[in-house]
Amino acid sequence: MSEGGCRKWVVSSSRASAGSAGELRAELAVKGYLLLDSEFVAADLFDGLGQVEQPTQLRPVDRNEAQSWSLSGRFGRGAFPWHTDGAISSDPPHWLLLRPLELSAATTTELLDPSTTLCRRLERTVLLAKDHAGRARYLPALVPTHDFHRIRWDPRACRPDSPGLVSDLEGTAPTVIVGWQLGMTLVVDNFRLLHRRPAVNAATSRVLERTYVRSL
Ligand SMILES: [Fe+2]
Repeated sequence: MSEGGCRKWVVSSSRASAGSAGELRAELAVKGYLLLDSEFVAADLFDGLGQVEQPTQLRPVDRNEAQSWSLSGRFGRGAFPWHTDGAISSDPPHWLLLRPLELSAATTTELLDPSTTLCRRLERTVLLAKDHAGRARYLPALVPTHDFHRIRWDPRACRPDSPGLVSDLEGTAPTVIVGWQLGMTLVVDNFRLLHRRPAVNAATSRVLERTYVRSL
């Protein structure tokens, strides 16, 4: 976790993934994300560590074109709020792999490594999670794990009981802004970092491939 909100930098180009899988895993453990070139092979990085699922294509759409329970169903082509993927799931994906397939204009994905103060507030927070069928259960927003912690955050479906936390978190500046270029692959620790997408206008083509990796 980061201390304070001033540790922000913009990443606009990937670097060669010259490191071994072990070195890349170590870097991922330190930073919570990796930005790699197209030679990156997910199977090598996650061999023995996670189960790589089939990829999905993410394409901005208007609200009326999306499932009502999805982020696009709520926000359409507008900016998405900070969230973790699968917050309501009993088995959220541990890592996300993102790579652009089509880009017609400059666009970004933002990452947030919550400060120690925010993590303490999250650890005291209980979420009232409601699934698509309306079934409700209580989930912790942050639980310690053997190696770090696991955050769940998606106030649309998981309403927190901590007053002010949604607005405080939503007002927090990103730790990293990734400027997408074709050929890049972004690996995100979904247990540790939150992410969000800026607004994408209808004239912009932005297609990302997303692959979930679940812990073994
Ligand atoms: Fe997401």
